[in-house]
Amino acid sequence: RTPPPLDPANVQGDILVGLPKKTQTYVFFQIDDNVSAFRTQLSKLVPLITSTSQVLNDHAQILANKQAAAEKGRKPTLLTLAGINIAFSHTGLVKMGITDEIGDSAFDEGQLADAQDLGDKGTPTSTGFVPDWIPAFKNPVHGVILISGDCHATVQATLIKVEQIFNVGAHNATLHEVLRLVGDVRPGAENGHEHFGFLDGISQPAVKDFDTKPNPGQETKPVTRPAWALDGSFLALRYLFQLVPEFNTFLKKNPLPLPGLTPEQGSELLGARLVGRWKSGAPIDITPLKDNPALGADPLQNNNFRYAFPDDPQTQDRCPFAAHTRKTNPRADLEDLPPPTGPVPTESRRIIRRGIQFGPEVTPLEASLGQTKLGRGLIFAAYQSNIVNGFQFIQHSWANTAGFPIQKPVTPGFDPIIGQAADPTSRTLTGTNPNNQSASLSLPIEWVVPKGGEYFFAPSISTLRDTFAF
Ligand code: HEM
Repeated sequence: RTPPPLDPANVQGDILVGLPKKTQTYVFFQIDDNVSAFRTQLSKLVPLITSTSQVLNDHAQILANKQAAAEKGRKPTLLTLAGINIAFSHTGLVKMGITDEIGDSAFDEGQLADAQDLGDKGTPTSTGFVPDWIPAFKNPVHGVILISGDCHATVQATLIKVEQIFNVGAHNATLHEVLRLVGDVRPGAENGHEHFGFLDGISQPAVKDFDTKPNPGQETKPVTRPAWALDGSFLALRYLFQLVPEFNTFLKKNPLPLPGLTPEQGSELLGARLVGRWKSGAPIDITPLKDNPALGADPLQNNNFRYAFPDDPQTQDRCPFAAHTRKTNPRADLEDLPPPTGPVPTESRRIIRRGIQFGPEVTPLEASLGQTKLGRGLIFAAYQSNIVNGFQFIQHSWANTAGFPIQKPVTPGFDPIIGQAADPTSRTLTGTNPNNQSASLSLPIEWVVPKGGEYFFAPSISTLRDTFAF
């Protein structure tokens, strides 16, 4: 049966377009024992949930505001923008008494049970594997409320409204907070760039019935879901720390020795070849030797490549097989896979990445020591129609698997950004040096360290109102 078309007024706003992103607070909570009171109060939250249509209206308002100011030769007035979304884990649904089979085993089991398979480090105990996560994620988290806005004051005011709905802090509270994560976009020219310095959030799948004019390089993603799950999405959330000074030191010590490049340029090229894009976002598959910021900023060009230039996906001339963007969306490596396997479609593996940076900029002391002293990284949040096929598969079977992409002339190695190995000092990859593509580069440590996370389901607004609340 073909599901009805997506209804933007019914889909929560973070999924298809993204809530305002200057600052975002993720409030992780447990539902208290008075579950029916919680569900009654949830109905009061529903009118505050930001839909996709509302986010689109906000975008139109921002644009109109900018244009009006430009016509008058003035600075645009500041708009107050806030957004609220909510998602529940499997333990949260069970706590509410919602036990329908939703068709995703990763979601059902939860991320804690998945940590070892994802490659997270930890300790085996008699009762099972305990990952090196922060305590909040080692206990049940029933749900997460995402509040976002143009500034901290807006988020704070919105948070107070939400807390009042659930009597948070009072004797008759129906939920309590177990963790709060605050993310902020990076300052100035680093806005939109993750902490290693690379522009993020460029390549996103186009979604059927929603993106009617996909940009070149986007594909359509068929959506099939069970009845009340319609217009909802699964959310894989990961609390990822990044060892930025250590990453930068590695690049500095290992410049690619290409003729005509200074050591600084050689280090910059190595960084681009580990990620698959230059810091500006320009893909190395289009511009392999030199950054091109105009290309990086142009949505009509910056995703229009397939790792098959001019028609050969079997070389690492332009991009290493294991580069982060190639591992996580291999394009022609699978879609044009030669015999014996033959072409493999990649649509079901695509994820929509939201999330935001957390933590301060690198301090001069950290930079000079080459050592992280303050926690920083990415609150990784990816939406998909199936976690087993999406996030879990990408992390486990692609990023952490040295032999992927398959059927290559040399073993690709680990995704140097997010790949996790049993021994974190044992990771290697080939192809970083375009002039010696079978040479293997050893990576001294894992620069991205997961400290927790959970799998959630972000229901549609009508499901929240008619099925979850009463
Ligand atoms: C793309 C960084 C974690 C999956 C990118 C890009 C950057 C980046 C700079 C290129 C910009 C873009 O295409 O939007 C990072 C960093 C991470 C991280 C620093 C950790 C701190 C992850 C994780 C996954 C993932 C955990 C999934 C398991 C992807 C995907 C793309 C991407 C699917 C798009 C590839 C494409 O379509 O070309 N990431 N990422 N990333 N990343 Fe990550």
